[in-house]
Amino acid sequence: MKPEVTLNTTRDVIEAGKAYVMSTYAQLPVVLTGGRGCEVYDMDGNTYLDFVAGIAVNALGYGDEELKAEILKIMEGGLTHCSNLYWSRPAVEAASLIARLSGLEKTFFCNSGAEANEAALKLARKFGSRTGRSRIISMEQSFHGRTYGAVTATGQPKYHAGFSPMVPDIVYARFNSLESVEELIDENTCAVITEPIQGEGGIIPAKEEFLKGLRKLCDDHDLLLIFDEVQCGMGRTGRPFAFQQYQAVPDVMTLAKGLGAGIPIGAMAAGSRAADVLSPGDHASTFGGSLIAAAAASVVLRRLSEGSLLSSVEKTGALLRELLLDLQKEFPVITDVRGMGLMQGIELSCEASPVVKASMEKGLLLVQAGVKVIRFVPPLTVTEGEIMKGAEILRSAFAETVPS
Ligand SMILES: Cc1ncc(COP(=O)(O)O)c(C=O)c1O
Repeated sequence: MKPEVTLNTTRDVIEAGKAYVMSTYAQLPVVLTGGRGCEVYDMDGNTYLDFVAGIAVNALGYGDEELKAEILKIMEGGLTHCSNLYWSRPAVEAASLIARLSGLEKTFFCNSGAEANEAALKLARKFGSRTGRSRIISMEQSFHGRTYGAVTATGQPKYHAGFSPMVPDIVYARFNSLESVEELIDENTCAVITEPIQGEGGIIPAKEEFLKGLRKLCDDHDLLLIFDEVQCGMGRTGRPFAFQQYQAVPDVMTLAKGLGAGIPIGAMAAGSRAADVLSPGDHASTFGGSLIAAAAASVVLRRLSEGSLLSSVEKTGALLRELLLDLQKEFPVITDVRGMGLMQGIELSCEASPVVKASMEKGLLLVQAGVKVIRFVPPLTVTEGEIMKGAEILRSAFAETVPS
């Protein structure tokens, strides 16, 4: 038998992690243990202002009392999971709130963004199968997750390397180029999938004409329009869903990340053209919409429907953008500032990792989106004071690492 591990220090945890956890991530030498508001703590007693939020997941920050109370209520009832053989109130409530906030009709619950996209790809193929069509158009530079369908839909060759053959009949158009999409549409095409704001691809918002044009192309050619809002949805842009910033409504929308505020849950919501494409037996997920996850989602969705959280995102997002633009004036290595609400990115003319590292050492957690882009996706509850403090730390990290 292997020896029992001791996990009392940062070093213990990292050493045991290297021995026992499969190495699929390039992890930083930090062990996070707790959090409050917009701050997280590590095992060595350091405090960080967190502009990563578990990569756009921890929408309500840390220690939210309502979230805690709702989860405890489910635990006290004893039924943490009941399988989708039966109805449960939390799942129905969460689905009804998604419908209310989005105008879409029905929701399928699963556990992650990749799984939500997998469901959307299957739904698209089922929709197409009625007329013998299977081709799905995705976008270059997109990111949709790591399961086979989702990673095939991901238009970045680096994520495919070593894993071929990929899922057939998924092709890639240029993001923000309607002509490029139009060129790929043929009699075999059944759907188009895109993120309204590309996240992992470098925080690149779609142009309004692009999403509107996609809506028209999909209507003209009887295609399903799928928006992946896994990262940009759930209040991040200042509206419940990013598509509401544009005049383009999808047939299918996928969600995850912020939906459960840290409790894993994914969802695929569908409008009238797609809501009844799947029938019993077509698709399933054992844990999908489990009571705790759905209760957490309902807390976030209720918070979004109340309005004050969204108006705060608008304010803090605008402030963040303004401060990043100020920083750009001071540091010309920042070649672009882009995004919406609390999903902002800065592109540098050099590698971003030294700035991210220096920020962490000064107490600010940041995450990259590619080699040259730093992304800012703090909890939606971040305050203006915290945005100012974060920007100040970032400024000093820039001053230390790049020429002004
Ligand atoms: C737009 C988008 N779609 C899908 C995914 C995959 O989500 P998950 O990691 O929950 O499978 C991500 C994750 O970063 C994402 O940003």
